Amino acid sequence: MFEKNREDFPTLREESPPAYLDNACMTLRPDTVVNAIKDYYELNPGCGGRSVHRYATKVTRHMSIARNKLAELFNAPSVDEVIFTKNATHSLNQVAKGLQWEKGDVILTTDREHNSNLVPWLQLEQEQGVDHQIVASHADNTFDLEAFEHACANAGKRLKMVSMSHVGNLDGIHLPVKEVVKIAKDHGAMVCLDGAQSTPHMKVDVQDLGIDFMAFSIHKMMGPSGMGGLWGRMDLLENMRSITSGGSTVDHSTYEGYTWSKPPARFEGGLGHYAGIVGTEAAITYMQSLNLDAVHEKEVALNRTMSNILKDVNGLSIIGPEKAELRSGICSILFDNLDPHDLAVLLDDAADVLVRSGMHCVHSWFHNKGLQNGSLRASAYFYNTQEEVKRFAETLVEAVEALG
Ligand code: ALA
Repeated sequence: MFEKNREDFPTLREESPPAYLDNACMTLRPDTVVNAIKDYYELNPGCGGRSVHRYATKVTRHMSIARNKLAELFNAPSVDEVIFTKNATHSLNQVAKGLQWEKGDVILTTDREHNSNLVPWLQLEQEQGVDHQIVASHADNTFDLEAFEHACANAGKRLKMVSMSHVGNLDGIHLPVKEVVKIAKDHGAMVCLDGAQSTPHMKVDVQDLGIDFMAFSIHKMMGPSGMGGLWGRMDLLENMRSITSGGSTVDHSTYEGYTWSKPPARFEGGLGHYAGIVGTEAAITYMQSLNLDAVHEKEVALNRTMSNILKDVNGLSIIGPEKAELRSGICSILFDNLDPHDLAVLLDDAADVLVRSGMHCVHSWFHNKGLQNGSLRASAYFYNTQEEVKRFAETLVEAVEALG
């Protein structure tokens, strides 16, 4: 499955390419994305939404196509609800710092959030006195719906926001979004989804899920680095303050004041990353050519292979439940005696396997468990092969047996 797609990626066409298994950090880019960026700089290097000459109008048109494609991909009710940002971190900061809070408002996250969905809320707690609470996961790291329901009931009317990752970058575990939304809505709270690890790998329909905001990361969807996005319900966006002010955020300004522009322009202050936006258009076009159910299935099959090779090896353990289907394409491994960074370098040098090591910006989870070394994380995408994941897992077993 997807063997032919490998031909579309310059890095995968190299002779003996490395096994790239760091897709949760950033995916590879197909030719169409690279070429769109090159064309932008070579053929029409203008700015969008401002000047009216031919370069600029072409960029403005591409911006509109890219935004429409994202709206289509996520089934957003309106294209104006799609905002370009520089990454999912910026998107989550915009939500946390752009909405109005009162002292004592409760915000719920899980105990496995990336710093981007933790630190902005901690900041609000320190600066504005909101009450940020964490819902602890089950012992195997899966979401504890009962604990969540209990936290919502305890917060009562003070519950204002539930902000959680759809799929964890630490372990690939999914949030039961519809159940979470139902409970949150029964309490009148908003739901913000960190879709950075779900949108590249599965069909995400914001209307079907019933959420209010979703942050996503375009460099994890085969798009350019420095590109992310935010989707939000229009009625909420209309009342949200922009955390950036300047060009495009206002309709008019005088020496005395200004009037905010409507979304999305209000949230896209300053000259944009236009090369990134045309690259986004190409990346989403590529994503639309894929069967996303098959993408998910392939990633789980790859994860099953690596997990089966690793699961009974002494000296290591996989974070999360045993079943690979509950961990998407992510296999994140803890070691009794070895340093994941040393192993990542060894895998690169000795077996041409590229993985990520460390705490993956989920320091809070590792510190809470007293795990100071972090983990070694292999994360697959549809273009990876069974040979690559076997090479990863078998080399790791040899290394642990020799060094552990
Ligand atoms: N959040 C990215 C990762 O998990 C950087 O690697």
